[in-house]
Amino acid sequence: MRVIICKDYDEMSRKTAEIFAERIKAKPDIVLGLATGSTPEGLYAELVRINKAGEISFKQVRTFNLDEYVGVAPDHDQSYRYFMNEKLFDHVDIDKANTHVPNGKADDLAAECAGYEEKMKAAGGVDLQILGIGSNGHVGFAEPGSPKDGRTSLVDLTESTIKDNSRLFDSVDEVPKQALSMGIGTILDAKEIVLVASKESKADAIAAAVEGASSTDCPASFLQEHGNMTFVIDEAAASKLKSADSYEKA
Ligand code: F6R
Repeated sequence: MRVIICKDYDEMSRKTAEIFAERIKAKPDIVLGLATGSTPEGLYAELVRINKAGEISFKQVRTFNLDEYVGVAPDHDQSYRYFMNEKLFDHVDIDKANTHVPNGKADDLAAECAGYEEKMKAAGGVDLQILGIGSNGHVGFAEPGSPKDGRTSLVDLTESTIKDNSRLFDSVDEVPKQALSMGIGTILDAKEIVLVASKESKADAIAAAVEGASSTDCPASFLQEHGNMTFVIDEAAASKLKSADSYEKA
């Protein structure tokens, strides 16, 4: 496990984009696992910049997003499909047919989840997964209590996640209460994982994820067991780590 502490959000985003650019150059048809949320926005902006500068191409890149709200149409401005189009896909040379986000409006949600796992498998599995972290330690929408071997499934969002996400909706009542999400088992199957975290509000979750015991109380703590795991975090998110001095500085 590698922990890289960056001065601030911009450095965290640049450092993570460097890792992504290297991997895309090494494998042009790489399978990326992608996340939404505020934290990876800087990474996506940097990837757009590097793509426009001609340094990397997404022409053969394939992507699978972690999750999507249930009951929210892809063209709804709070859907995760919409977010990905806005922040990344519409601005790079990717073939949208190669981009996948679970369909939260599917008639048969269980079949949608099983089919999503099948598609990932057929693509050869995720080579590089980007993750954010919830203030409660969730990754994707694998909330506290999620099993370590969980697969893509229909999940109930916790009260704390609904509250965290309400900033993006007109009121807390409008926040969807369920999502389709990769499970911890699905996430751990990725060949390489990078988790980004910024701000003091993530400091407790990062301390539990990096230095806490591996436990369903903090789903991100299971990432410690992955053989190719890097946490790229800013100083504020690192502020509650006991061994902060012993980790790499960007
Ligand atoms: C989003 C996702 C979530 C977020 C997490 C942090 O696809 O899977 O786990 O990564 O909720 O969100 P932000 O970055 O907005 O704090």
